[in-house]
Amino acid sequence: MSVSKKFIQQLILFDIFVALSVTCDVVFSSGVGDGNIKCLQTELEALLSFKRELLDVRGRLSSWGNEGFNQDCCTWRGVQCDNQTSYVIRLDLRGPSGLNASVATAPLIGKISPALQELKQLKYLDLSYNRISGGIPDFLGSLSKLEYLNLSCVGDDFTTVPKLGDLSSLNTLDLSYNDFLSVNNLEWISRLYQLRYLAIRYVNNLNSSVYTWLFKLSNLTHLDLSGNTLYGQIPDAFWSMKSLKHLDLSRNALGGGFPRCLGNSSNLKLLLLSSNNLDGQLPEIMNNLSCVSHSLEYLNLEENHIGGSLTDIVAKFASLRELRLGRNKLNESIPGAVGKLPSLVLLDLSWNKITGSVPDLFLLSSLRELYLSHNQLTGVTESIGRLSKLEKLYLDFNQLEGTIAEAHLSKLLKLRELDLSYNTQLHIRVSSDWIPPFQLDLIRFTHCKLGPQFPNWLRNQNNISELEFSASGISGNVPSWFWEQLPGLTFLNLSYNDIGGNVPDLSKKMTDLLCIDLATNKFTGPVPRFPTSVITVDLSNNMFSGTISFICDNFDYLGYLDLSDNRLSGELPHCWTLRSIVHLNLGTNNFFGEIPDSIGSLQTMGMLHLQNNHLTGELPQSLANCKKLRVINVQSNNLSGEIPEWIGSNISDIIIVILKSNRFSGSIPSTICQLKELQILDLSENKISGIIPKCINNLTAMTEEESTMHQIKSWYFQVDDQGEVKINASYDETAVLMWKGRQFEYSSILGMVKSIDLSSNNMVGEIPVEITSLVGLHGLNLSSNNLTGSIPLRIGEMRALNFLDLSINDLTGEIPASLSQLSHLGVLNLSYNNLSGRIPLGEHSLTFNNRSYIGNHGLCGYPLTETCSLEELPRDLMLSDEDEFITPEFYISMGISFISAFLGVSALMLNRRWTYGLLRY
Ligand SMILES: *[C@@H]1O[C@H](CO)[C@@H](O)[C@H](O)[C@H]1NC(C)=O
Ligand SMILES: *[C@@H]1O[C@H](CO)[C@@H](O)[C@H](O)[C@H]1NC(C)=O
Ligand SMILES: *[C@@H]1O[C@H](CO)[C@@H](O)[C@H](O)[C@H]1NC(C)=O
Ligand SMILES: *[C@@H]1O[C@H](CO)[C@@H](O)[C@H](O)[C@H]1NC(C)=O
Ligand SMILES: *[C@@H]1O[C@H](CO)[C@@H](O)[C@H](O)[C@H]1NC(C)=O
Ligand SMILES: *[C@@H]1O[C@H](CO)[C@@H](O)[C@H](O)[C@H]1NC(C)=O
Ligand SMILES: *[C@@H]1O[C@H](CO)[C@@H](O)[C@H](O)[C@H]1NC(C)=O
Repeated sequence: MSVSKKFIQQLILFDIFVALSVTCDVVFSSGVGDGNIKCLQTELEALLSFKRELLDVRGRLSSWGNEGFNQDCCTWRGVQCDNQTSYVIRLDLRGPSGLNASVATAPLIGKISPALQELKQLKYLDLSYNRISGGIPDFLGSLSKLEYLNLSCVGDDFTTVPKLGDLSSLNTLDLSYNDFLSVNNLEWISRLYQLRYLAIRYVNNLNSSVYTWLFKLSNLTHLDLSGNTLYGQIPDAFWSMKSLKHLDLSRNALGGGFPRCLGNSSNLKLLLLSSNNLDGQLPEIMNNLSCVSHSLEYLNLEENHIGGSLTDIVAKFASLRELRLGRNKLNESIPGAVGKLPSLVLLDLSWNKITGSVPDLFLLSSLRELYLSHNQLTGVTESIGRLSKLEKLYLDFNQLEGTIAEAHLSKLLKLRELDLSYNTQLHIRVSSDWIPPFQLDLIRFTHCKLGPQFPNWLRNQNNISELEFSASGISGNVPSWFWEQLPGLTFLNLSYNDIGGNVPDLSKKMTDLLCIDLATNKFTGPVPRFPTSVITVDLSNNMFSGTISFICDNFDYLGYLDLSDNRLSGELPHCWTLRSIVHLNLGTNNFFGEIPDSIGSLQTMGMLHLQNNHLTGELPQSLANCKKLRVINVQSNNLSGEIPEWIGSNISDIIIVILKSNRFSGSIPSTICQLKELQILDLSENKISGIIPKCINNLTAMTEEESTMHQIKSWYFQVDDQGEVKINASYDETAVLMWKGRQFEYSSILGMVKSIDLSSNNMVGEIPVEITSLVGLHGLNLSSNNLTGSIPLRIGEMRALNFLDLSINDLTGEIPASLSQLSHLGVLNLSYNNLSGRIPLGEHSLTFNNRSYIGNHGLCGYPLTETCSLEELPRDLMLSDEDEFITPEFYISMGISFISAFLGVSALMLNRRWTYGLLRY
């Protein structure tokens, strides 16, 4: 499925991006130009030859003078000369890293010229993030003065691996992000006996064989092998690398615990082992590390399978500044000993199974960041308020009870980020004239008991950039000062409260706003104006009224706009300046008139919801330009005309088409069969005539029993001036579907639902046998048409069917015995046709009562009262051998669990429709 594939690609890109974005702020250091230095002629020529071999895509080398031009190469960009001898000592040509790094945006592309050998005094060479072709030449090994060499991310299609073992002065080597490297030919690195700093991160072919030469490098101080495929136990030979200060083995597949160290001569300061398969017990691991307890400052064991609890042993690690143990299996409560780490600045225990209260941590006199999210903590004492240096406090997703009062917060002078969300029994009670001692930057009280009053103490907070009070029991109006005093607000979420009042024009008041979610409240008045940089606007389910002329402001990044369920009216505007719109929902309002042609200019649009309005006319032909459309829902309007052919011929990736309850006429165009991704087709309650096209078996997604996706996920971005993604957001598409006669809202599993509803039209002809190829279909509703002929014999092949309604047609003949094979069927309606013969006695037909069959004069047998004559004895009374006898209750419960599986998950998704990736450098 292209959507899910795309999604995966995005994820990968995103992952790479996160991985690369750590240190990409430095791009080029310009040469230190001292007027007195003149570069040496031989070196100038060498640099020019070097330049000649390269394609300089971004003009990075434009200051490298061509003949007769700037002859002082020491002033060229990226070049630095020795201020005494004028030799070139530094060449810094680092390319930009980022989302599109490595390939498309590499500024320099081409071969490394042998002329580079002329720079005999070169000490520093950085070619990272360029695209070097033809491999890393061995002649680089003759640069005997070279101390720093950065070849990170320079290419991936080389056949040779460099052999630079002669670089006798080299102390820093970075070979990260190069897929061409293979662990088999890196042994030369072990001859670099001056090497102190070695980074080989994210190289596909680096596995545990690396140890055979690695441990010869006993002088290393920094070793970074993160993001590779090291597996097995961590060898204890690491302990014999006595100089090692920084060891990063994160993101590998290392198992076991950490080997026990002996003596205490190791000086390890930083140990990163996050995202491995370590599965020991924490006390044991800490014990094994005790020889570095005096030196260790940073320990990261996040995302492993470590069990046990933080024992008193941690108190030995008196130098610890950062302890990250998140995403493990730690349990029990936090011992008081943690409170005795005087240097600890950051403690992260989030995503574990820690119980009990947040203990007295007031001895953590240096603590600035405390992350205890996603645990099972039940209480928090006032002692937390004594952490006077605390800047970030995350207690979200616990089971905290009781009240957070002023006393908890009154001494947190430095607090900037406070997240208490999803502690549904936690009351936040402070007096309305309280003046907090801190200025918050981020505050999240989603699903806490905060209301009913809008918190007045926010009045003195002027720096908030992210505020989330969703579902926190607030009612009444937002006080007007609120809109005035938070000019730096970027995220605002007040959804699922009982808040009313008007929202003022925010375009000048909150110029940094990126996301505003006021959904499901009682806001009234006109839709406010927003700053044009906004990316998410959700005002759904309120009482906003008036027109939507604000759409004509130039929105560059607005990706998600949901104005559904309001009292908006008027004609849809003609100016659509939503250049990045992905999701547009104007449903359930009072819009009238025609859908303007100009809507076709929204080329990025993936989801269009215009349902439940009074729109008239035809679907504009211009929509054929919206090639990215995945979902179109215009249900319950007064639209007319034929179902446009472009739905299949121009837009091929559409997943959901809902045209229900309009006045569409004509027949179903066969182009609809080209929709390989189509999962939901609802044309019910129109005036559609003609036959069901035989090509219906071309609807590939419906012919597949498996769904490759759960959600229909969409992504949208905001990019900065350099074209780098500044923020990205994703959300799960939602649709309200009729299912077994009731309306359900699907979100998190929408991507799995497959159904066809052509009911209440004027369709004629037979049900094409091809329909039985749609074995992935969960619902098929052809009721209330003029269909004739018999029910396809092989209907039993549509094994996923939960819902089958063929009622109120002119179907004749017998009910195919294969129908009894539909073991998931929860609703069957064949009533009011001309069917005849005995109702097949499949085991599960017992589930249905006579209402499934009435109005067919020729039918007989259970559950109808008409008994069958002898000739009407069923031909295959016998169940096939492999069918076990299953009680009717079983099927009923199956039906119920199917529905509750649907509903259960989507209820959880409430308020969590978006996911943001904030990429701030
Ligand atoms: C020359 O370079 C050395 C080392 O880079 C530096 O310490 C010194 O300050 C420089 N001298 C002048 C005059 O710039
Ligand atoms: C090598 O360059 C990359 C960026 O291009 C940088 O992230 C990395 O830290 C550098 N390596 C070293 C050892 O300086
Ligand atoms: C460690 O460094 C010293 C001093 O530079 C050097 O003599 C020795 O050979 C190095 N050892 C190794 C194993 O590289
Ligand atoms: C490591 O990878 C290399 C190259 O892919 C392979 O030849 C070698 O067998 C692997 N070694 C181990 C221990 O898995
Ligand atoms: C159905 O699919 C087949 C094979 O992919 C193709 O040849 C045919 O043209 C398709 N029919 C329609 C109406 O799209
Ligand atoms: C990344 O590259 C693709 C194709 O080369 C381009 O369409 C896209 O705009 C680029 N994105 C950024 C953020 O530069
Ligand atoms: C469908 O059948 C009904 C009732 O028999 C009839 O009134 C109507 O004209 C038929 N429609 C078509 C399109 O045949």
